[in-house]
Amino acid sequence: MKVGVIGSGGREHAICFSLKNSNKIKEVFCFPGNAGTASIATNIDIDLNDFKKLKDFILKNQIDFVIIGPEKPLVDGIVDYLEKFNIKVFGPNKVASQLEGSKIFTKKLCEKYQIPTAKFGIFLNSKSASSFLQKCSFPIVIKADGLAAGKGVYISENYSDASKAVDEIFNGKFGKAENLLIEEFLNGEEMSFFIISDGTCFKIFGTAQDHKRVFEGDKGKNTGGMGAYSPSRLESDELTQKIINNIIKPTLEGLKNLNCEYKGFLYAGLMIVNGDPFLIEYNVRMGDPECQTLLPKLKTDFSIIINSCIEKKLQKLDIEWHEDKSLCVVLCSKGYPDAYKKNIEIDLKKIDLKKNQYIFHAGTKITDNKIVSNGGRVLNIVTRSYDFKSARENSIKLLNEINWDNGFYRKDIGYKVIQ
Ligand code: AMP
Ligand code: GLY
Repeated sequence: MKVGVIGSGGREHAICFSLKNSNKIKEVFCFPGNAGTASIATNIDIDLNDFKKLKDFILKNQIDFVIIGPEKPLVDGIVDYLEKFNIKVFGPNKVASQLEGSKIFTKKLCEKYQIPTAKFGIFLNSKSASSFLQKCSFPIVIKADGLAAGKGVYISENYSDASKAVDEIFNGKFGKAENLLIEEFLNGEEMSFFIISDGTCFKIFGTAQDHKRVFEGDKGKNTGGMGAYSPSRLESDELTQKIINNIIKPTLEGLKNLNCEYKGFLYAGLMIVNGDPFLIEYNVRMGDPECQTLLPKLKTDFSIIINSCIEKKLQKLDIEWHEDKSLCVVLCSKGYPDAYKKNIEIDLKKIDLKKNQYIFHAGTKITDNKIVSNGGRVLNIVTRSYDFKSARENSIKLLNEINWDNGFYRKDIGYKVIQ
């Protein structure tokens, strides 16, 4: 079979890698891909906003199915568009993608189906938001409604910070804003919980914990993710049952009542407060770097899992995992998440990967036969091991061997599970 993968990050490299390991897959095309995908797939440089060009290429090259990695094309309706041309696609449609595309859509669904989440209010202008904030206790959370690449969330410690956040959102920092959300601050521990669904049934697809802040000790600005580990230390049968019954099932039921079947990965960002899960956000895709952390643990052929979803046969499939731990450290360009240099060479020629070690590229490309940096997050170093401590040690050993002058990384990924 021939497969197409849409996206260019570490998540998509890990997806291409898992597909390539299947003897059912003859060829992988990655749109547009990076230097890592170039070594195992054919990179095709098409603008992801140009659905028509993508469709023409997929049909012309008789690609059997397509996996959508990032949220933007999903929220923009790429699945609905490609399916109109009878292309098989793995990913949720436009209606379902509002779970990530509109925080207010999700909050209203939570309200209707009594899904536990932070208490919230929706405000249409800065005046009403500010007068509400004068009566609030702090910290409080302020969120832009639409997609903001993980940046549209403020946790404000006082009135002055909060009203600055409100102004920034209404002044269009994250795109035109007709409203915003103010919500209660939940004090607990975060957990990422993944399922995969074929529209009629779903299976759990693992748990993870990512580290969003740029500096060690979870300090500094939010980023796309500086590292992750799987499984989450909070994972237990009791918690899983609560997440499934109180959050996942009512969400899928709510979508069904909108005539919408959910097909794809669904990523619930949860806050666990005194043993009870609260929904913070949904993402309608795998997490990045959680995907790179999780996929190496998969035993079952990834292409069979995706195909079963597309064929609505997931029910019959048993998804099997390696029992060990997995930990990912992200190598970033100095300066990220603010300004950073691009086009700096990264020499990986002498790097020897040990068993159960993986390098997944993110912001890289090939120029004059050399790998050069092309983004803020550059490489993902993943190690699977019997414990998190040795997984981290081995990832850091590899980072020392790579010894990239222009880079930095967090040495404390997984500190809550490593003594
Ligand atoms: P989000 O983009 O919604 O995932 O939010 C980014 C980060 O803000 C989350 O990973 C949490 O760490 C934090 N956050 C969001 N909402 C809340 C909340 N209601 N209470 C506490 N922390 C939150
Ligand atoms: N790692 C967080 C995300 O993918 O949104």
